[in-house]
Amino acid sequence: MSADTPEATGTDDSFPQAGRRRLILPTPVATNGSGNPDVEAEMLKQLKPGTVFMMGDNPALPRMPSRPRLLDFFKCRITEVTYRHLLTSAKRALDAGQDEKIVLACLLHDISNGCLIRTDHGYWGAQMIAPYVEEEIAWAVQNHQALRYFADESVGYQYPESYVRFFGDDYVPPEYIRVAAESAKRHVWYMSARLVTIYDTYFFDAADTVDPEIFQDIIGRHFREPKEGLGFDGSSVAHMWRTVIWPNNAL
Ligand SMILES: [Fe+2]
Ligand SMILES: [Fe+2]
Repeated sequence: MSADTPEATGTDDSFPQAGRRRLILPTPVATNGSGNPDVEAEMLKQLKPGTVFMMGDNPALPRMPSRPRLLDFFKCRITEVTYRHLLTSAKRALDAGQDEKIVLACLLHDISNGCLIRTDHGYWGAQMIAPYVEEEIAWAVQNHQALRYFADESVGYQYPESYVRFFGDDYVPPEYIRVAAESAKRHVWYMSARLVTIYDTYFFDAADTVDPEIFQDIIGRHFREPKEGLGFDGSSVAHMWRTVIWPNNAL
């Protein structure tokens, strides 16, 4: 076994594929151009009796309920840094007395880069939640991505100092982001997305500890949890939630 090829072992036979070596094929968007070796061909050669490509629950991850709800994803799948970041952003909006829709938008604004994909995270996140929330909430999540690059002195929003560290002092957002921000500024829901950028915290090491349960009532009022569970309701985005549940499936 090469040190470069990820796998999950374990003999707990309450998990699928028990007793076999489970190879985890890295997802192309996570490896292309990263300098990590392309292990696809090598891993195909490793297939033999007793070795499989992972499909289904990964014993290395917390097992999710069969009908998962929104907060189950927070507790079981969202990365530690983003978990604290989202809860802190939502708590700041809550403490400021913002409308519950804004609080929920803050709670969900980075859900994509917390558990699914980083690139274009606002767009992915908006799609993930669109069937379950008011259109304005998904719109705010999508458009916070572009607006956070552009100051609005009239509401006290400045370009995040941390972005200078993150991306370099000469970083210029691409044209589609500039166009999206211009369009969002003229939109009737502009302030909803702008508020997300205002309650966003840009220093990820300074997040507080917030109990996600304090948002359960707001979620109950503004997020239509499907009775079949997220990922299993047959919606146009169910596959996104299933991908989060089973991030290591080979196909
Ligand atoms: Fe974001
Ligand atoms: Fe954020």
